[in-house]
Amino acid sequence: YSSAASDVYKRQFVCYIIAILILKTKLNEKRVNFMNIIPKPQKITFSGKYVPHGSVNESVDADMGKEEYSLKINRDGVFLKGGSERALHYADITYKQILREDGNMLPECEIRDKPVFSYRGFMVDVCRHFFTVEEIKKIIDAAAMLKFNYFHFHLSDDQGFRAEIKKHPELSLVGGSREGSHFGKKENDDSVYSHFYTRAQLKEIAEYCKERYIEVIPEIDIPGHASAILQAYPELSCNKEQVKAKTSQGIFKDLLCAGNPATLKLIYDILDELCDIFPGKYFHLGGDEAPKDKWKKCPKCQSKIRELGLKNEEELHCSLVNRAAEYLEKKGRRVICWNEAANGGILDKNITLAYWLDKAGVSVKRANEGCPVIIEKFKPYYADYPYGMYPLKDVYMFDPKSIKGLTETGKKSIVGVETPIWTEYITDFERLCYMCFPRWFAVADTAWNGRDEKNYREFRLAAKSYCDALRKMGVSSAPECDWDESPQKRLRETLAFADNLMTKNMLRQLLNVEE
Ligand code: ACM
Ligand code: ZN
Repeated sequence: YSSAASDVYKRQFVCYIIAILILKTKLNEKRVNFMNIIPKPQKITFSGKYVPHGSVNESVDADMGKEEYSLKINRDGVFLKGGSERALHYADITYKQILREDGNMLPECEIRDKPVFSYRGFMVDVCRHFFTVEEIKKIIDAAAMLKFNYFHFHLSDDQGFRAEIKKHPELSLVGGSREGSHFGKKENDDSVYSHFYTRAQLKEIAEYCKERYIEVIPEIDIPGHASAILQAYPELSCNKEQVKAKTSQGIFKDLLCAGNPATLKLIYDILDELCDIFPGKYFHLGGDEAPKDKWKKCPKCQSKIRELGLKNEEELHCSLVNRAAEYLEKKGRRVICWNEAANGGILDKNITLAYWLDKAGVSVKRANEGCPVIIEKFKPYYADYPYGMYPLKDVYMFDPKSIKGLTETGKKSIVGVETPIWTEYITDFERLCYMCFPRWFAVADTAWNGRDEKNYREFRLAAKSYCDALRKMGVSSAPECDWDESPQKRLRETLAFADNLMTKNMLRQLLNVEE
């Protein structure tokens, strides 16, 4: 009899424990829901209670930082405070996120928040594949929700020039076309590919961004990645040959001639018009992957080197970019360049370097001298690589200040981070969204919070909730099973990626065989 009673007690005890565990999980879920904000706010105080919706009050507090805000929810209402209209906008985004999660009742809480980095960027390459204004707007909406503040618009590359320039309509009419698309083994298409944005469309995008406190940074890549410009203006190539816009991926030897005065004249004209359309602080002058073979053989380039007393072609590269930067600085602009632009050693110290792959170590050197640097290290911030190569967790855990060799000054010179999406292998909007989301959530979190206090489990839960929100905005994302794949699947995706891009053209380049 007594053993039966003890069995009943045992069973009751187990039931109690289970009930307590379920209750605890439910409470945690509620708490986790409340924490579903990306980027995660710096400081959240939650009373554990929920209150009914009250009236929403907004005010600007001049004592707060320009991007700093606070958000208080209690029985008296909702109180948003920010150091500027922009900061209030961020407070509002956070508030909407809480609303989205918590429906009828709101958590009684106080949030104090400000970003660690002033530069929080995302880049879209519209040259390899083009995306419509409506698609670009959707990406901007998604980025705005993540508190990104710079849209780096990659408008010119070997495969197409995508901005209408009134004074030089050939740039988009001729330079905006290529004779096919042969990106990798899978994407082979011989049809003519012609696209560009009209000035009105570019203005529309600029305005759309402004309303969301995002600055557009247009990029015109010089002196390399310039085949599309040269297709329109062959006289600007070193040997005046008819260059064609490229139909495949790669690094090409067709550079703008740095010894021809008409080159800078054309660049100035492009800068004039794009500065007019995009009124922000920054302009991007590219500067990556520019093999100097043709400059070495060009009498004009060589005579320019002598005229300016330069040592070599790398210095000539710096000098050309410096001239364009000087022109932009006179208009009150700041210039960003990819890290290779500094390889020559004489790049203007005011220019911000974008670190992506820096074999020469110039980014770290300049950062340590106090020059501004943006971190967009290709591994893991390039969203065009498959999840199998750059899984979500790696993107989330990446520390932008972990670049080897940075001193304390160097770390302070990191103004922010950016995540680019190159589109050689991204032919449609669905794929673009799949590649960017949720990985851009992870970059946004680091852009706002730096790398301290990471909690990947919590972040994943928040990411799920954000994917739902994106879906409602017409932006899809990668399914959860693809975020962090098994080692076998990772190996398979890596091999498939390499196999797809190993076209004949790529092999030719690797072996350095002339076309
Ligand atoms: C780059 O990926 N070429 C900047
Ligand atoms: Zn030349």
